[in-house]
Amino acid sequence: MLSEKIIDENKQGQAIVTLDKKGNTKKLFIESYGCQMNMSDSEIVASILSEEGFDTTQNLEDADLVLVNTCSIREKAEQTIRKRLQKYNRVKRINPEMKIGVLGCMAERLKTKFLEEEKVVDLVVGPDAYRDLPNLVKEVEAGKDAINVILSKEETYGDVTPVRLNTNGVSAFISITRGCDNMCTFCVVPFTRGRERSRDPQSIVEEAQDLWDKGYKEITLLGQNVDSYLWYGGGLKKDFDKASDIAKATAVDFAKLLDIVATALPKIRIRFATSNPQDMSLDVLHTMAKHDNICKYIHLPVQSGSTRMLEKMNRQHTREEYMELIDNVKKIIPNCAISQDMIAGFCGETEEDHQETLSLMEYVKYDFGFMFAYSERPGTLAAKKMEDDVPLEVKKRRLSEIINLQQQHSLFHMEKMIGQTVEVLIEGNSKKSDVHWMGRTTQNAVVVFPKGSEHVGDFVNIKIEDCTSATLLGTKA
Ligand code: SAH
Ligand code: F3S
Repeated sequence: MLSEKIIDENKQGQAIVTLDKKGNTKKLFIESYGCQMNMSDSEIVASILSEEGFDTTQNLEDADLVLVNTCSIREKAEQTIRKRLQKYNRVKRINPEMKIGVLGCMAERLKTKFLEEEKVVDLVVGPDAYRDLPNLVKEVEAGKDAINVILSKEETYGDVTPVRLNTNGVSAFISITRGCDNMCTFCVVPFTRGRERSRDPQSIVEEAQDLWDKGYKEITLLGQNVDSYLWYGGGLKKDFDKASDIAKATAVDFAKLLDIVATALPKIRIRFATSNPQDMSLDVLHTMAKHDNICKYIHLPVQSGSTRMLEKMNRQHTREEYMELIDNVKKIIPNCAISQDMIAGFCGETEEDHQETLSLMEYVKYDFGFMFAYSERPGTLAAKKMEDDVPLEVKKRRLSEIINLQQQHSLFHMEKMIGQTVEVLIEGNSKKSDVHWMGRTTQNAVVVFPKGSEHVGDFVNIKIEDCTSATLLGTKA
């Protein structure tokens, strides 16, 4: 029905729906939950389906195909998706032709169980199977359920040009590695996203150049573990040892990749996420210091300040080694902002372990933080071998102590900025006011200031006059 309507309107020369790609008539509603990698993957999916006649729509009710990119990281994330499926179910009752698909980590984790447990779902596709979407969608359109959750050794989608979704036209994600080999005992990601593999550096530079040519000013290089990036011609990171001598000699690691991208595009701002302490080399820090266009901000999750806990989590570094890395960051890049991820109440965590987390936070004084209560995930080593023995009340209390301390530290960093002039890249309207712009400093701090004649995507110097623990407030310098 919908496609007929569009064609009719087109005949009269007044299309009511913008056709992104010539001839596309079907409508895709796609939404993403969880990490930035999911947002980036959804852009790859939108690109693959645009070749199959689908343009994206912001309107769920209009869609022929609804896809939700899912997250399994904590139980609550999965519950959110299940609730969302209920909403789809209500819309599908009105429009029974609408097809519903689940992508990403929950698809990979639950596989056929998803089709059994959630009757509304027609299609289940894991993170490495998006190239199969054209076939799978055809099956679904023919009235069958379809599933592909095969994980891959090579897939990086390096040749797919993403369709930018919800873009502000200023900042964009570029995925550089997929999967994770770290096997932290609490984490479901290695099971849902498979083994680590890296993308051809040339295709990364080409994507960055293309974004720059289209007016983008900032890119974020993405991976579960970007510092582990290693290109030696393709294939799994764990098979690097078996590569030829030439492949080994010409291999590109993360420090080199950063240097290549920052040199090729000297005006674009470069961010990256996520770094893992044991894989972050001093070379990366020196490369960051060398290039003005690499943002002075590192997201460096630690999860716990207790070496005993870090060992149980299989984090492969001690508290002291982490502190040494922090010392090096501060020495090599003195103005670098650092943020953390913390887990409160992992298996066997004592009050003493918790105090060590708080004291590590005091030592580092993180600029930002992302903090969670431990949530047991089926299939992980922790779920199989360790008891989830910290009572919920205790987890919550420890978490709130961690959050409170982080807020104090965030405020400390923000207050330090008052009186200083900082360079801000304007991303768009302030969330709270149409007469204010919102942008970020190189350290990733959010800055809000009154609008003048400048535009989204401009770099402006702002004098900071006030702050909260999350936002700097200022005026044009
Ligand atoms: N390296 C990844 C980590 C993904 S998970 C990245 O790109 O960020 C993000 C964060 O979720 C982790 O750093 C950890 O703090 C938290 N997390 C992971 N598994 C968890 C679990 N089972 N319970 C609570 N928090 C968890
Ligand atoms: Fe998860 Fe640890 Fe990798 S947190 S994504 S297994 S680095």
